[in-house]
Amino acid sequence: MATFERNDSANGAPAAARYAHIVGWGMALPETAMSNDELSTFVETDDEWIFARTGIRQRYIAHEGESTATLAYRAAQQALEVADILPTELDLIVVATSTAENIFPSTASLVQDWLNAHDAGAFDLSAACSGFVYALNMAADSIRAGSITSALVIGAETMSRILDWQDRSTCILFGDGAGAVVLKASAAPGGVLASVLRSDGAGGDLLAIPSVGSIDAAASRAGGNGNKLYKMTMAGGEVFRFATRVVSESIEQASARAGIAVSDIDLVVPHQANLRILQAAARKLGIDIKKFMSNLEKYGNTSAASIPIALCEAIEAKRIQDDDHIALVGFGGGLTWACMIIRWGLPIPRKPQSSLLNRQRRHVQYRIAKWRSRSRRWRRRVNRRVQSMRD
Ligand code: UT7
Repeated sequence: MATFERNDSANGAPAAARYAHIVGWGMALPETAMSNDELSTFVETDDEWIFARTGIRQRYIAHEGESTATLAYRAAQQALEVADILPTELDLIVVATSTAENIFPSTASLVQDWLNAHDAGAFDLSAACSGFVYALNMAADSIRAGSITSALVIGAETMSRILDWQDRSTCILFGDGAGAVVLKASAAPGGVLASVLRSDGAGGDLLAIPSVGSIDAAASRAGGNGNKLYKMTMAGGEVFRFATRVVSESIEQASARAGIAVSDIDLVVPHQANLRILQAAARKLGIDIKKFMSNLEKYGNTSAASIPIALCEAIEAKRIQDDDHIALVGFGGGLTWACMIIRWGLPIPRKPQSSLLNRQRRHVQYRIAKWRSRSRRWRRRVNRRVQSMRD
């Protein structure tokens, strides 16, 4: 495979064309699934309503030992395995999430530490359910511009932690999970072709999770009508109408940018919010609903994780072949929406399994990561002691 040194054009020579290809993918789910019937034991709803109105049968819910970062880490390990690269080769880690471990440090920094990806920059990206497409676009642009060579892009969520479990209009919809891809620079044409990113902040109140700085949550603390801190609220009907409009619109716009017709798209991998949204979008675009990947039934809406999880399952189910045109399309809070067109095809022939030696090296690095992290903390503590004794 033709790969690149960082920053081809730094010496003044014209930069060779660079393309950003997805070369690895992985996903992770919590251990426990919760069915619609289980939900209906504590909130007034039933399997028939949920399935008919959304297409959801069950969702996965993180237990106490699982978190956004642990799910992201597991998905990342799988993606590195498929890509057969070492974590130390990564230049950038981006985690798209609305349920970050902390306001800071970022979930991406935790994953960077656990992977021993010591040469990677890391940050979280907030664009709700569109976050994964935003993050992928960002990473692909950095690769194409020549500032980085490889990136790990993750969508990870523990939505169960910000749901109001008494609100049947939202708690039935969401689930937890993570999906990840590895992007790499290559001279082989293809990969990420074009994207459209959009936002309409005037609709921000339609779907929201107030955090510490929120004026809305402050109103709630003062006994007013503000929304609860860290709890999601959604105007379902309005978000539904917005979603059906922007899915079809953004697919048309991104296809035009990529220089292809909508009919050239082989598979749409959409954000998994509601099967009826996907059906409406397929009707508007005049394309067969079979071209829309859907796994809502098993996972519900996992926000920023839903597209990479669906992509991962589509690849594993062999629904994506070389030279296929794939449309990733996300929509959600912000309001935000985004569509990306990818021409699929690995720039290197796929090995049946990642090489045994590299696999062992990755496992050694994960162990080293634990020791490295511990020893750094320990060194800092010792330094503090020494400093305080000197003072
Ligand atoms: O990922 C971010 C993007 N999010 C989305 O795209 C979500 C978009 N919105 C939706 O998917 C849908 O609007 C919902 C699934 C949230 C709601 O479906 P809907 O068809 O818009 O239902 P609705 O809110 O209009 O409610 C219809 C009826 C109401 O009863 P009445 O007033 O007609 O008597 C609700 O009270 O269904 C009732 N209802 C329920 N019944 C049983 C609402 N939630 C439930 C429930 N179980 N869980």
